[in-house]
Amino acid sequence: MDKISSIRGMPDVFESDTNYLAELNETLSKIFLSHNLNEVNTPILEQTELFIRSTGVTSDIVNKEIYSFNDRNEQSLSLRPEGTAGVVRSIIQKKLDTAEHKLWYQGPMFRYERPQKGRFRQFNQAGVELLGFEEGSSDLEIISIVCDIFIELELENSVLRINHLGDKDTKEKFLSELLKYLKTYKGELSDNDKEKLNKNPLRLLDSKDADLKDFLDKGPKIIDFLSSEQLNLLDKIQSVFGKYVEIELDSSLVRGLDYYTGLVFEAVSSNLGAQDSFLGGGRYDELSKDLGGKEMPAIGFAIGLERLNLIKKKKNIKSNKVISFVTTSSKMNALAFKIAQLLRSHNYDVRLETNFTDASLKAKLRKASKLGAKFVFIMGEEEFESDTITVKSFDEDGYQVNMSVDEILDFYKDI
Ligand code: HAM
Repeated sequence: MDKISSIRGMPDVFESDTNYLAELNETLSKIFLSHNLNEVNTPILEQTELFIRSTGVTSDIVNKEIYSFNDRNEQSLSLRPEGTAGVVRSIIQKKLDTAEHKLWYQGPMFRYERPQKGRFRQFNQAGVELLGFEEGSSDLEIISIVCDIFIELELENSVLRINHLGDKDTKEKFLSELLKYLKTYKGELSDNDKEKLNKNPLRLLDSKDADLKDFLDKGPKIIDFLSSEQLNLLDKIQSVFGKYVEIELDSSLVRGLDYYTGLVFEAVSSNLGAQDSFLGGGRYDELSKDLGGKEMPAIGFAIGLERLNLIKKKKNIKSNKVISFVTTSSKMNALAFKIAQLLRSHNYDVRLETNFTDASLKAKLRKASKLGAKFVFIMGEEEFESDTITVKSFDEDGYQVNMSVDEILDFYKDI
């Protein structure tokens, strides 16, 4: 019979990566908690309309990447491509859109993109959303959370790029100048870029086309249209956080989702390949209203866990706290299982491997060594009769001691 394989871009994740993802989640949740954020879980499936109205009809996500299907009731549903829309939808639905909320979440997201290093069709994000906060100190707070992630995870070779997209007025003024400037270039645009020009010309700024980039470099810059408060915010971010992380002002940074309004930012690492951005975010003051809610200014970001994993992988050292517990005869197994259970409950950081098979002691020791065990706990005839266990160290000193069950529990606690 034909074998069934997983869907392209949705890889199975095995131990070295699952361990690391769990570790990352733990560190991130510690940081989020220290900023007094509350965790929220929204569904993986939402109505397609939610993503059309949030990420925008002109975004790549809605145009090319969204996984949508009709359910049995002919309702169009989509796998979430990102977390912000669901969180805002949920706050509006609960009629909590007049209060302030500081939230974080983590979980799988889905985008039909061409898979490559660091780019998957199912991937995990951890995200933060500060809802109900106007531009000002919340922008600094969000950057301070990003900074804590950089510091706590010791992210090297990473840069935080920032830009400001202005408010509605600045955006309009800038866009009219940009469109005037682009008139002479219109004929040379690709079909894809022509469509962007018609639907959302701002998206042209992050074009990968080298000629267009050159042309735009010489054109109007959004920074020249910003108010003194908006410029001040960019200055402040650099002066307050520039000591801790490398921050670059990048006037071509617009981000791929339509809901952004003010500050936008993206973190990139030279440890990654072409997909060098591992964190992205910004302000989205209009999103609540676009989704039928009240005025609720907000700012947030999300970090891609697989990309973080790629940056940090070299430091991913598997815990060497592996212990193999072996018996020499099956009559000991009932007692040995009880002791193993007791041991585990004394220290969940240790990986206790039990080997109570009929293999020889020699074979069991060989297997333990292959597993990278630090110690082997042996229950042989003598130990069974005297209610003890022999601890054999696999370190260079290779010592061996006999311990009572109480002694071994104490020993195990401190491994
Ligand atoms: P985003 O920039 O689209 O923003 O995604 C954030 C991060 O998710 C990226 O920096 C990247 O690390 C990861 N990511 C995106 N697509 C993929 C993929 N195909 N494979 C692997 N990783 C990927 C958002 O999603 C916004 N919701 C962020 C936000 C929150 N803005 C405001 N609040």
